[in-house]
This record gives sequence, structure tokens and C-alpha cells, in this order.
Amino acid sequence: MARPPTPEAAAPAEPTAHAGDEAASTPRPPAAPPSHVYPIGSRLNAAGRLEVGGCDVVELAREFGTPAYVYAEEHIRARARAYRDAFALRSDRFDVLYASKAFPHPAANRILSAEGLSCDVASGGELYMALRGGFVPERIYLHGNNKSEAELAYAAEQGVGHIVVDSFDELERLERIAPGQAILLRVTPGIEPATHAYISTGQEDSKFGFGLDELPRAIERCGRIELRGLHAHIGSQVFDLESYAKLAEVLTAMGDFPLLNLGGGLAIAYTSDQQPPSVDDYVETLLAGAPDGVTVLCEPGRSLVGNAGVTLYTVGTVKEIPGVRTYVAVDGGMSDNPRPMLYGARYEAEVADRFGGERLCTVAGKHCESGDILVSDILLDDPRPGDVLVMPATGAYGHAMASNYNALPRPPIVFCRDGDARLVTRRETYEDLALRDLV
Ligand code: LLP
Repeated sequence: MARPPTPEAAAPAEPTAHAGDEAASTPRPPAAPPSHVYPIGSRLNAAGRLEVGGCDVVELAREFGTPAYVYAEEHIRARARAYRDAFALRSDRFDVLYASKAFPHPAANRILSAEGLSCDVASGGELYMALRGGFVPERIYLHGNNKSEAELAYAAEQGVGHIVVDSFDELERLERIAPGQAILLRVTPGIEPATHAYISTGQEDSKFGFGLDELPRAIERCGRIELRGLHAHIGSQVFDLESYAKLAEVLTAMGDFPLLNLGGGLAIAYTSDQQPPSVDDYVETLLAGAPDGVTVLCEPGRSLVGNAGVTLYTVGTVKEIPGVRTYVAVDGGMSDNPRPMLYGARYEAEVADRFGGERLCTVAGKHCESGDILVSDILLDDPRPGDVLVMPATGAYGHAMASNYNALPRPPIVFCRDGDARLVTRRETYEDLALRDLV
């Protein structure tokens, strides 16, 4: 497939000696298989190169340029099935909602709607993408702490099944715009799991939802609107299942409702040393805490798509400061993945055709900020300009939070399956950058 004419779309056109045919024909000594941080089904092929969804990522970098987001479709499917199966084994009253904010892309939405999931959207834009991705409106849930009148009207017009109401102001607005709409009330349950403060949402001091003290008044206030249940989301990247058990207990104590939405937030592994709870144990915890007869909902985002995606970069410069640090600069950075800067998130990286290595490096982006560091202090196999670098676990909140900082065109998205690579979003061009400007 031809690359769009963006000069920044660096393809490692000149294969480096260690990434060329010679390496392909001379099998390297067996390296350790990629860890659980990589998409399901990933492997190092005979040439020692990473394969995702059966596709050699060095080849993908040549074909689509870098930086590029690469997804293994099977990973997304497998995770959706893991959720569904874990529930189905134990209950027939459940629904799994894809929190599409993690990756609001029609290609992912298509896979997840086909797998029988419902969808959680956080804005009119995400609603639009969900509909484009094949989710039927009745199975969409709209939440958000400050939905506009236009967003509420759009949701009602499209026949969105449930709106998760966040405030008294919104109750009043909704009564006017969509009387008879089915809703859930969002609750801040006063639970603080151990995670980054910016992605912790269940504590009492929060912009989201009704505090427990306020809830009875909100329930009373529902009037003509059809209250179907309660919703809470305690935060993201949560390892500790105890918090979910506590959540189920707190919500159950608030009254009898047909639906109980316990939110999302199950952690994933960003680095090989992390071992998040299994989907099975998570679902077991949710169901154990909920009363019989209630339909239990959860809305995972990251744990469906996070490990499905990797980002490919090309190394541009290697700057060694003797006795201090070696900076390996790549052709992306905080614009395609702001998470390291925003949350201090830790990641791993590897040279895509030489996993392992002993050179202590820091992977830097190309933006004009010293803080634009993607990975600090990792061991790489002597990275050189032209090498393809792969950074795993970028499938959630990477593309979703990407920007055009420094007027960098945003990367393409490639979906891989059984050795076939499909471009689902092309790289932005310089022309795209100016497309909406009216001068
Ligand atoms: N439900 C609600 C109401 C949420 O607010 C969120 C995430 C989720 C579900 C899905 O959470 P997940 O399963 O993906 O952890 N940008 C941050 C994450 C912000 C999450 C916001 N809400 C990050 O990159 O870590």
C-alpha cells in the first residue's frame, strides 16, 4: 500500500545491515519470546524480528512508515471473549460495555460490536464513532460530567439506550430534552484505589457523579425519567480487586435496581514485571459482590485494547553523554503518546529485530521539550540510526490522546491479522494540518 506523501513519514528505506536480508537468511540464536506485554500471538520470527498479528513489524515499518500504531486484531477479540465467557460461566444477567474512550476507532468498534459487546461513550464524538463502528444505539451508554444540550439531544435523537446522569443540573436538562429516557445515576462511592491521582475517580472529592449523601435526593428527583440503575467508576489501571468488592457492596446498599454498572479500570501490564489480575478473577469479584437478580455491567477500555497495540518508531539519533546517559531519539514522542509525561507511565521498548541487549538507554521523542521522554533507563541492543524501535502496550489512550504538537502529523493505524496488514487510518499529511484553517 502506498504511503501518503508526508515527508515526516520516515520509513527505514535503507535497511540497516542487521535488519536486512542477511539477518533474514541467517537465523539468530533463539531469543526469549516477547512477554505478556505484547499482543497475544506475537512472536520473534527466525530472523529475530517481532511479528504482531503474523506481520513482521520491520516490514510494516517499511510499508507504512513510522511512527505507526500497529494492532493485533485477534488480541482485541480474545479479550472481548474473555470478558464475555467469564460472565457467561457464572450468570446470564450481565453486559460488557467497551469504554471506547480508550481507542474510539471504528475498526475497533466493529470488532467489539461483532463480538457482542455494548459500548460506553463519553461524548457526542465518541457516540458518532460508536455508531459508525456498528454499535446499535440501544446498546450504547453515554456518560460524562458535563454533557452539552447538543450531545444530549443527539443521543436522544439516535435512540441511545441509556444515559448516565452525573448531576442535578443534568437531570433537569434531560427531563426537558428527553423525557422518558432510560438512565443510570453516577455515584462517587468514596473508594480510592491505589492508582495515579489523575485517573482516580471514585473518591468523594471528585467532579464526577453524586456523592453517597446526595444520592437519595437524586433518586427522588428522577421524576419522568426512567431510573434503571446506578453506575460508578473508581478509576483506571487498578490492580487491587478488593476495591471492586467494596464498590459492589457500597452500591448494593443504595437500593434495589435492575442494573448495576461497576465501571471499568482493570489494570494491564505495561512492563513485564507487572501482573494484573485476570479478567476471570475480576468478573468473579464483581458478580460475587452484586445481589442475585441484578444485571451486572462493567465497562473496560484499556484491558480490551491496551496490550493489543504497539507503536513502531525509527531511531534517528543516538547521543551518548559519557558517564551520564545515552539518549536514543525516535521520530515520535509526546504527541503520539502523552502518557509518560502526563502520568509518569512506565513502558518498555525493544529494537524490533534485536530483542534483548545490554546498553542502558533512554528513549526520547523528537519534541522540543526536555520532558519528552518515552522510556527511561532501559536495556537495548545497541540501537543505531535507522533501527525500528517497538514500544508495546500503546493500544489504549495512545491514538486517543494523540495531538499535533509541533505540527507533527498523527501516525497511521494498521490492523494485523493472520499475516495480513490493513491500513485503517492513514498518516496525516501536512495538508491535513492546515485543512480546517480559513486563512
Ligand atoms: N468508565 C468510565 C466512566 C471511565 O471514566 C473510564 C475511564 C472507563 C470506564 C475505562 O477505564 P479503563 O478500563 O480504560 O481503565 N487517559 C488515562 C485514562 C483515563 C481514563 C478515564 N476514564 C490513561 O491514559 O491512563
